[in-house]
Amino acid sequence: MDKLVVTGGNKLKGRVVISGSKNSALPILAATLLTPEQCIIHNVPDLSDIRFMLAILRFLGAEVTFENSTVTVKAEKIQSETPYDLVRKMRASICVLGPLLARSGEAIISMPGGCVIGDRPIDIHLRGLEILGAQVTTEGGNVLARASKLRGTDVYLGTKFGSTVLGTDNVMMAATLAEGVTNIESAACEPEVKDLAEFLNKMGAKIRGHGTRRIEIEGVKSLHGVEHTVIPDRIEAGTYMIASLITKGEVTVENMEPAHLNNFIERMKSCGAVFRTGPNWITSTVPRELSSLDVVTETFPGFPTDMQAQVCALMSVTPGISVITEKIFPNRYMHLPELKRMGAKIDLEGATAIITGVPGLSAAPVMASDLRASAALVLAGLVAKGKTEVNRVYHIDRGYERIDSKLRALGAEIERVK
Ligand code: EPU
Repeated sequence: MDKLVVTGGNKLKGRVVISGSKNSALPILAATLLTPEQCIIHNVPDLSDIRFMLAILRFLGAEVTFENSTVTVKAEKIQSETPYDLVRKMRASICVLGPLLARSGEAIISMPGGCVIGDRPIDIHLRGLEILGAQVTTEGGNVLARASKLRGTDVYLGTKFGSTVLGTDNVMMAATLAEGVTNIESAACEPEVKDLAEFLNKMGAKIRGHGTRRIEIEGVKSLHGVEHTVIPDRIEAGTYMIASLITKGEVTVENMEPAHLNNFIERMKSCGAVFRTGPNWITSTVPRELSSLDVVTETFPGFPTDMQAQVCALMSVTPGISVITEKIFPNRYMHLPELKRMGAKIDLEGATAIITGVPGLSAAPVMASDLRASAALVLAGLVAKGKTEVNRVYHIDRGYERIDSKLRALGAEIERVK
């Protein structure tokens, strides 16, 4: 198994080009199942999660190519049963459920299993599809959804943690081919949901209100092939911005959308970070010592849960006491014991991490447990004294394209060891 070895101490400087968004590309790839015609999708990051999704599409019968960040998919004839072996590797495979049901009237998909960032049920996805007229059963670890016809209606998709991103995606995709009008209330407003809606509209869907809490979908008879460019990955951009701040360097993230990170940027400014912003770039600097942070993760446009682990790493070496509360996935704190092994001072009280900034961290062998936790450990390694070994690096390869070479180009001492 590969590991990353990071030698801390270098200030990062330079420019880094942000890849396409993983969390946009995954549902968009699933949406190609809605048409027998060819779809061409640009700016797709080369990540293991993307490769899992392409394998699922191939298994279902689609012809797929992937070259130079462009994917073509032609799902002329498809079957409706997904393989457990592929699905179990990636929770996001659940987003083929809506498209398969809408296109074939049937979908059989393995129930996603446990997840290290906490309980991740799919009850709201299933409830939403049932309200549209599907009969949903679970049998032998599989979800079976059948519908001779889906009918548009009002669907409330809230969870006790707020809206659901992939749940909104699934119901929105299914509703594109339903009879009549579907109104999704308490819809997720994340930029990735909006990107998917724009992709679907290019295919001939009639979706309005995407990017707001209420999405209206007027069903159409069929969808057609389309060409689309995936939005940039806001979480990758935010992670490199933290790499700049934690090393007190000066990094410009390019080919990104500053508006997607407004909340994060404002929070970092309140700690003393300074940003110069252009239409598709941001330069991050730290003119003086940063101060502590008090933040709660929320659905968009709130502070993203996918930046929580990286911010914990930054606050571990920022003077003062930071209070970070996780409201989306209350157990998403697997990075804390590992950061503590590097000398961080953190107490966890319920879903709140109380971090007392220390002057420095020391390198240690650490274990990556999930995607963002691994990013946090790499960030901590960039400032720790000595060589930090981040093991189980396959987690990071799920969501960060060529992270080692991108960081090296910014001046980091980082190598991948087989
Ligand atoms: N929830 C339910 N029932 C459901 C669905 C969700 O109770 O049927 C709860 C979840 O347990 C959670 C909350 O609702 O407490 C929000 O979960 P959501 O459904 O929005 O998460 P997701 O759609 O499964 C996506 C991203 C995650 C990101 C979350 C939150 C993709 C592929 N994944 O997951 O990304 O953290 O939204 O923004 O888009 C990552 O990239 O590292 C990652 C985990």
